[in-house]
Amino acid sequence: MSKTRIAFIGAGNMAASLIGGLRAQGLDAAQIRASDPGAETRTRLQAEHGIEVFEDNAQAVADADVVVLAVKPQVMKAVCQALAPALGKHQLVVSIAAGITCASLQAWLGEVPVVRCMPNTPSLLRKGASGLYATAEVSAEQRDQAQTLLSAVGTVLWVEQEQQIDAVTAVSGSGPAYFFLMIEAMTAAGEKLGLSREAASQLTLQTALGAAHMAAASEHDAAELRRRVTSPGGTTAAAIDAFQNNGFQALVDKALEAAAQRSAELAEQLGK
Ligand SMILES: NC(=O)c1ccc[n+]([C@@H]2O[C@H](COP(=O)([O-])OP(=O)(O)OC[C@H]3O[C@@H](n4cnc5c(N)ncnc54)[C@H](OP(=O)(O)O)[C@@H]3O)[C@@H](O)[C@H]2O)c1
Repeated sequence: MSKTRIAFIGAGNMAASLIGGLRAQGLDAAQIRASDPGAETRTRLQAEHGIEVFEDNAQAVADADVVVLAVKPQVMKAVCQALAPALGKHQLVVSIAAGITCASLQAWLGEVPVVRCMPNTPSLLRKGASGLYATAEVSAEQRDQAQTLLSAVGTVLWVEQEQQIDAVTAVSGSGPAYFFLMIEAMTAAGEKLGLSREAASQLTLQTALGAAHMAAASEHDAAELRRRVTSPGGTTAAAIDAFQNNGFQALVDKALEAAAQRSAELAEQLGK
């Protein structure tokens, strides 16, 4: 990426986080440009990162190797159609918009190489997880560029079929909310067992953090880690039995199937 020039179309939360991550990785400010209709947004970004900013999207993409589409899905069609005449076939388009398919992007932009990404909210803290899919037009060098770009805000995984982006959306895209729900539920249960709300919340949060760190650092998978902390007849076994005897896996399956199905439906609607 030492010479790669990147243009961000839309300079909101996600673009700002990606730009911060790229700058922290040592990318030069002169390699990054951004466009956004908000004067305040542009001034802030310029002041924080020293990058060149534009009101006009077409100006921002001139000479860019990678064009990152970071606008809301609802405005994507209009943004792409207006941008199409300014784009060349050699420019990689990276879309981070939820629910916009490569077919839609190429219908609006022309046959440009496209990488479709599904990041998640912790990307704003550079602790994200993103699934990436590349169209056939994307070169090996462009795959590396997209990988480096999204790695600036967290972990990156490639999928081989675009449909798998719906599964990525169900697992990691919507996933942070499932853990928030678990934190809410455990905090409420702790309170019912006699702890103050603050104590239940602190214990739950630190347990979630500790367990995530342990799972990430361990050579064992989650099932093995769980077995190791579950003595037969003990307290953890009592809780795990209660979860499993009440359809925990079936419930999680159902929840993620619903998210994946909704992701496919939204892609259908947003592509029109
Ligand atoms: N935030 C997340 O955690 C997350 C996670 C996964 C995926 N994403 C995806 O990332 C994309 C950006 O999300 P975000 O949270 O960064 O949204 P955001 O903060 O609203 O950023 C979008 C920016 O685009 C600007 N914009 C609107 N119309 C434009 C146009 N015609 N040309 C150029 N810029 C324009 C907006 O300006 P105005 O505010 O003035 O309209 C805003 O500054 C979305 O497609 C979303 O699906 C986000």
